[in-house]
Amino acid sequence: MNEKNCVTIISGTNRRKSHSFILARYILNYLQKKGTPVKLLDLEEVPLSILDNNTYTAENQIKELTEIQDNYFVGSSKFIFVVPEYNGSIPGVVKMLLDALSVRKYDESFFHKKACLIGVAAGRAGNLRGMDHLSDILNYLGVIVFPSKLPVSRVFEILDGRELINGEVVETLNQLVDDFLEF
Ligand SMILES: Cc1cc2nc3c(=O)[nH]c(=O)nc-3n(C[C@H](O)[C@H](O)[C@H](O)COP(=O)(O)O)c2cc1C
Repeated sequence: MNEKNCVTIISGTNRRKSHSFILARYILNYLQKKGTPVKLLDLEEVPLSILDNNTYTAENQIKELTEIQDNYFVGSSKFIFVVPEYNGSIPGVVKMLLDALSVRKYDESFFHKKACLIGVAAGRAGNLRGMDHLSDILNYLGVIVFPSKLPVSRVFEILDGRELINGEVVETLNQLVDDFLEF
């Protein structure tokens, strides 16, 4: 597989010690074991200065963000978004990142690439609404969203400290990821 066939997993929050990151790291290990070229972007790594009001032009894009864009977006053809539910939708940092990237190398970053969405929530909905919101945004950017979306609800019950322990969730996640690789 060449670099363009790489999968980028996005842990969709900058909250420290997030549960989304635990799931994202599980998927990273799973794909590495399968020999799939894969990278994990933890949104904790995204500099907060993307909130600066200079962010909306390519010439003003900060160096750290350019590196993130070229490595994790231009350099991949598939994305797996693991997005927690914050107030009934995706965290603002996910939208902020997509907006900040969209002003530079738009087509190379997004056009006709493929995305799989996994929602994570403390509550029962598993971020179903947030995954729908994110689908709309990604479709607008030209990304093709995989039709199967996985809502992971009551995330506290399927983790043991920093590990995913629920066998049923593990099997469902593995199957989803396998299907997405074929997509
Ligand atoms: C700002 C904020 C808003 C949240 N809103 C919701 C919510 O609307 N519904 C819900 O089920 N859980 C909500 N939660 C709890 C998260 O779903 C929970 O923290 C879960 O572990 C996933 O987020 P994480 O990846 O940051 O850990 C919220 C958490 C934060 C920090």
